[in-house]
Amino acid sequence: MIRSFHKTKRGEIMWGDSRAWLLNVAKPASVDLIMTSPPFGLVRKKSYGNEDADQYCDWFRPFAEGFKRVLTDKGSLVIDIGGAWIPGQPTRSLYHFKLLIMLVEEFGFHLCQEHYWWNPSKLPSPAEWVNIRRVRVKDAVNCVWWLSKSPFPKASNRRVLQPYSKSMEDLLQNGYVAKLRPSGHDISSKFSKDNGGSVPPNLLAVANTESNGRYQDFCREKNLPIHPARFPAALPEYFVRMLTDAGDLVVDPFAGSCVTGAVAEALDRRWVCCELSEEYLQGGLARFNPNVQPLPNGKGVIYEISPPCPIPLDKDHMLPVDGGEARPPEMSRRAPQEPAKPAKVISAAAEPIRRVARACVYREIICHEGDGLEDGK
Ligand SMILES: C[S@@+](CC[C@H](N)C(=O)[O-])C[C@H]1O[C@@H](n2cnc3c(N)ncnc32)[C@H](O)[C@@H]1O
Repeated sequence: MIRSFHKTKRGEIMWGDSRAWLLNVAKPASVDLIMTSPPFGLVRKKSYGNEDADQYCDWFRPFAEGFKRVLTDKGSLVIDIGGAWIPGQPTRSLYHFKLLIMLVEEFGFHLCQEHYWWNPSKLPSPAEWVNIRRVRVKDAVNCVWWLSKSPFPKASNRRVLQPYSKSMEDLLQNGYVAKLRPSGHDISSKFSKDNGGSVPPNLLAVANTESNGRYQDFCREKNLPIHPARFPAALPEYFVRMLTDAGDLVVDPFAGSCVTGAVAEALDRRWVCCELSEEYLQGGLARFNPNVQPLPNGKGVIYEISPPCPIPLDKDHMLPVDGGEARPPEMSRRAPQEPAKPAKVISAAAEPIRRVARACVYREIICHEGDGLEDGK
């Protein structure tokens, strides 16, 4: 069952199971972009294989059918999905790769390009493997699968250009001597044409640290749970800009606090957001009340990524021969601790999330892996 919860000038929030909207309510071939972040998979330790990844695919199948039904032939499907650790051991689940393979091989979607959302503010986790045994590094990217019904969906990278680097600006100003690079690439004089910005890489650097703002204030004031697994507006903004025109229809079937809807509204796209939890939707109303806020222009934060291995090697440091199977002795003297759970619900919203999970057949979901901040993800 699904019903209208709130309408704005350009969009509508639907309360209920998005499968009902996708499979029965929406007009076939009417949606230009599905931009979403589904509940992530929680993997349980099994003595044989990792069947949970398969369960995730089984749970996802009806949504995939719905996506195929509602997308236009030139439409795109963008799924932000985080990985998961197998509890009790420092290895990773394949569930999000299995999902991708299912969408391509079973449902006929094309993989246009994988993107990676890097959250520079992510704290090291899981602590057991990263901080205590120090056998893994911090997990700071989500996969973002950009898929489409045809190999040529509507798209233009001119919509998401980045400012030129200082060296490129100098080159544009002072000109470039055309020559063959050692790699064999012919850097012709065309290289010094100003295209208004550089083409971004498929690594999207967006910190997810916002803990104060209109949405949070509204939730606190009304005693509503702050959604613990929101994505930052910059993520849907990037794909809405690149893959849709004004007036196109954008849908988020796992809408949470309706970030996608607010971004679509600000960018003059029509939109529909579906969400199971009424409480999350009540909080999400803050994004449209009284008006949707304009998206910030000229976002200024530029992050630096260190090259690998900038610190000289400590030749005396020996690798743990057991691969970290036992805790280091100095840690073992402390009270024994359970290995860090792969993902934790870290806000008062835990219970609604679990309820949602039960409602979705799929055995368990997680809030996107907590990074120690109030705001999940
Ligand atoms: C990862 S959260 C999305 C958060 C959202 N991107 C945001 O920024 O607020 C996934 C959401 O999907 C919702 N959900 C799970 N199953 C659903 C279903 N069958 N129909 C609609 N929503 C569902 C959950 O309640 C949860 O809020």
